[in-house]
Amino acid sequence: MATGLAAARSPWADAWDRLDGLPDGGGTNIAHEAVDRHAAGPRRDHVAVRWVHRDGTTSEATYAALAATTARFANVLRGLGVRPGERVATLLPRVPEMMVAALGTLKARSVLCPLFSAFGPEPVRQRLERGDAVVLVTTRALYDRKVAPVRDRLPALRHVLVVGDGADAIGGQDLRVLLDAASPVFAIEPTDPEETALLHFTSGTTGAPKGAVHVHAAVVAHHETGRSALDLHPDDVFWCTADPGWVTGTSYGIIAPLTHGVTSIVDEGDLDADRWYRILQDQGVTVWYTAPTALRMLRRAGAEAAAPYDLRRLRLVASVGEPLDPEVATWGQEVLGVPVRDTWWQTETGSIMIATRPADPVRPGSMGRPLPGVEAALLRRGPDGRAAVHDGTVEVLDEPDEVGELALLPGWPSIFRGYLHDVERWERCFAGGWYLTGDLARRDADGAYWFVGRADDVITSAGHLIGPFEVESALTEHPAVVEAGVIGIPDPVAGEVVKAFVTLRSGVEPSEDLRRELLGLARRRLGPAVAPRHVAFDQHLPHTRSGKVVRRLLRARELGLPEGDTSSLEGAVGTALDPPEER
Ligand code: WT7
Repeated sequence: MATGLAAARSPWADAWDRLDGLPDGGGTNIAHEAVDRHAAGPRRDHVAVRWVHRDGTTSEATYAALAATTARFANVLRGLGVRPGERVATLLPRVPEMMVAALGTLKARSVLCPLFSAFGPEPVRQRLERGDAVVLVTTRALYDRKVAPVRDRLPALRHVLVVGDGADAIGGQDLRVLLDAASPVFAIEPTDPEETALLHFTSGTTGAPKGAVHVHAAVVAHHETGRSALDLHPDDVFWCTADPGWVTGTSYGIIAPLTHGVTSIVDEGDLDADRWYRILQDQGVTVWYTAPTALRMLRRAGAEAAAPYDLRRLRLVASVGEPLDPEVATWGQEVLGVPVRDTWWQTETGSIMIATRPADPVRPGSMGRPLPGVEAALLRRGPDGRAAVHDGTVEVLDEPDEVGELALLPGWPSIFRGYLHDVERWERCFAGGWYLTGDLARRDADGAYWFVGRADDVITSAGHLIGPFEVESALTEHPAVVEAGVIGIPDPVAGEVVKAFVTLRSGVEPSEDLRRELLGLARRRLGPAVAPRHVAFDQHLPHTRSGKVVRRLLRARELGLPEGDTSSLEGAVGTALDPPEER
């Protein structure tokens, strides 16, 4: 920064300047930037959030109203003796109290730990226990099913705040009563930007879930990427479909849009083509952030489902969490009127890192480029498939189209500051000055990144690295194919050959002709070195909760291996795709 006036300012530094900071140099607090600063300014009467309830009715809160209810929640925590730094977990569907608890917790300088309401008791227990949660905000029904069975193993949990009826029956406290009794005024105490704000659990391939620690300074990255990747402007109507139990639901379901002063839509209901198209139309959504799985389901419903609705206000549609099939990206143009733009990031990065930005052309199949302020690289891999580290150094791949482990140069404001209670695991994420993402990618000659797979999913056949995603994309180009999962199976000559499992559109019958057609299509698209050797029809591909095909399970099933630890089968994005009875 000290290189003189001519030096380009970092986009993060510019974003710091666009935000407020707490009064009198009191540091940075996410809730201040998201809510209080608008409530104290010209946007105080602008609608901050509109909830679409299950029955289709709506309710809304202005920035001023949200400031008051979140102040009440912060005062409730103070009244209960909850201290700054202590963890407050939420296990809630997408009800208004979710956002109130989240932002109120941040105001009180406690740490928000959102849990996914479709988790069962075991993952809930693991997270509450590992996260040392002292408060849980939930509903009676969720408590009964997911917490009661493990309550005696959670000695640190001091308070259960209940949304809706039934608090007494479970020894909890009625959140509505507490909020009503609390003051709507709360002055946020000075907050060090490096104070912990958020704890997001994420699953590795093995072991207990990892609690990624994020700090208040992350709001700078939420805000900046809301601008650079999602093009948010104050008059936008923004809808993020991710569940608040996942990082996308917090970073972009709550924080980023509010820092821009937009109106955010929250749908309490589940994915349904009619319902979703109606929300896009009736709410006048201008920027929509969703997931490929959801888009594939809409695509499956056919263009007729969208035809009755006027979607002309949609200006930008983006997706995250899993590979965006090229045909879904272009389907967007036909049916939504705008193409789908891919974004890439992880729980650990806290905010979008790579994206097809609003002004960039959409190259179907590519994730896009690193955002301004993000430096990415591909690192040469060792025999285990991850970046090879020699004496603490790594090798950056310079040539286009070489597949390597995707790495990022630390320094952006929302990089995780650690895994809770696990320094070693955190340290293992870094080498040669880079943060190693565990994903494989390539970069084309134009600098665009293409997702290849997780570091452990890649297939090596006759010395060629094959990304299952590329093969799956080719197969899903065929109109009969809804989804594909591609794995490597052992082959005495080639090491591994590619086998594809494809799910057919309903109404299409599997046949030998169709199989040959798909093999032919893949060979044409991919060439003989990459095309699958085998194609099997399969209407029941294994999925994570968020809808990703679990290739590892597919492989285990195919090879008759033990399926292993299913705790890593949690979804990553959490769209509204979870069974309704789980809510
Ligand atoms: C993993 C991170 C932060 C968003 C929610 C997921 C995969 C993410 C993409 C994309 C292909 C993607 C990666 C990544 N992923 N975005 N655009 N294309 N894959 O957060 O649970 O931490 O998962 O999701 O494998 O490492 P997460």
